[in-house]
Amino acid sequence: MQFSTKQVNPEKLRTDCAVVAVQNGKLAGAGAQALDQALGQALIGALGRGDLGKRVGATQLVSLDGNVQRVLMVSLGESAQASDRQFVDACTAAYKSLATTASRDATSWLHEVAVEGRELDWKIQRSVRVARDTTYRFDRMKSKPDPAPKGPARIALAVGSAAEGRAAVASAQALANGMDLAKDLGNLPGNVCTPTYLADEARRLGKAHGLKVQVLDEKRMAALKMNTLLSVAKGSAQPPRLIVLEYRGAGARQAPVVLVGKGITFDTGGISLKPGAGMDEMKFDMCGAASVLGTMRAIAEIGPKINVIGIVAAAENMPGGRASKPGDIVTSMSGQTVEILNTDAEGRLVLCDALTYAERFKPAAVVDIATLTGACVIALGHHHSGLFCREDDLAEDLIAAGRTAGDTCWRMPLDDEYQEQLKSPFADMANIGGRDAGAVTAACFLARFTKQYPWAHLDIAGTAWKSGAAKGSSARPVPLLTEFILARAGN
Ligand code: BES
Ligand code: MN
Ligand code: ZN
Repeated sequence: MQFSTKQVNPEKLRTDCAVVAVQNGKLAGAGAQALDQALGQALIGALGRGDLGKRVGATQLVSLDGNVQRVLMVSLGESAQASDRQFVDACTAAYKSLATTASRDATSWLHEVAVEGRELDWKIQRSVRVARDTTYRFDRMKSKPDPAPKGPARIALAVGSAAEGRAAVASAQALANGMDLAKDLGNLPGNVCTPTYLADEARRLGKAHGLKVQVLDEKRMAALKMNTLLSVAKGSAQPPRLIVLEYRGAGARQAPVVLVGKGITFDTGGISLKPGAGMDEMKFDMCGAASVLGTMRAIAEIGPKINVIGIVAAAENMPGGRASKPGDIVTSMSGQTVEILNTDAEGRLVLCDALTYAERFKPAAVVDIATLTGACVIALGHHHSGLFCREDDLAEDLIAAGRTAGDTCWRMPLDDEYQEQLKSPFADMANIGGRDAGAVTAACFLARFTKQYPWAHLDIAGTAWKSGAAKGSSARPVPLLTEFILARAGN
């Protein structure tokens, strides 16, 4: 799907479908109103007949003869100012409805809606992102692709001058490209998307976007004493990989932001085997890694003046004759020893060595992203990602970025009191802290490996993918991370 900004002369406009919003009983925006004038008030007339529902996201298609063949009207409800969510819901409904028409192109005025506290660029970005989101398909694994959906190939956003909003369209496209990558990687099955596959994907990304990419194999990891990471992969026939991508948008002396993603390409639980029901969803246990690759892609396409390092800790967690067993003790790269009481708490084991490795970049901040605990899903459900952070300013930046991007996180505690639960009689710590506050003790485990830099942990177990009929990766938190990095770069 192609997007552009366009200065529209409503008298001369030719389009298969014009998309306008109705807010508080009126056509939203001067552009949409001018269009209606040019159409001889056909839209006001249609509105007067009262067919358009008042519920946010209700749509009505008006067929016309002439250069504008149809107009799709979408309702934003009865308040003068829409919320972020109402705007997104209305855009979603509009683009879904648009895709059921035979329109080959469309011209949209949706960004003329009044959204509380949001500027034009935000509305343009969100409108483009929603369009891309609603048209995403994953049919790569089908022998015959699903029949091509109807709907426009080109969407023009009507603005005052063509330069207006152009950068917003470009950055929204870059973000959507990053999200598509994260979705594709998440949706690929575990037999295709292995640690080796993730490494190859990172190399492709590096080539296409000029990122430096380094892949550490088992030998290199052993030399670095990454024994906790290696312990997770021991039961699998798939070799683990530590993948490092570097985006350099600022001077070499500027300390980078480092993103660290959990890349368990399938999590059986290992010897502490998971129950069978729904285990297929553990192919999504690499969504943290996918979000790092997706964010690196978006950032590389946008080109902000900041340095960003992406690290992916990739392994498959399997039972087997060589697999780690409950009670095994391993020495992490940091030198701290860990008693593996449950082999299903493997995410923290791959992350802790990757977080120690991150020290060498002398980071300004490190954010790790992981589908880490079922307990986080119990605590927060599927709306907010869990945020764990010692530093208030870093936490606030991430929360704000999440709000702007519509990809929110909610701060959780990280007090030292919880560290007690990780005590082991035999090693420096155990890898589990019992049932109580499971998301917090998992974060507390990681905290022991991140004392050298400002650090935040995002537990995305509840937000990274959807179950049920709409099963699939959500690409969260690519929007949050991209917004966070752009804001830090001063964009
Ligand atoms: N990948 C899982 C966490 C998970 C479970 C995410 C369900 C999304 C849905 C993780 O590796 C895991 O198994 N965690 C255990 C930790 C426990 C053994 C302390 C869990 O949450 O049960
Ligand atoms: Mn697990
Ligand atoms: Zn896992």
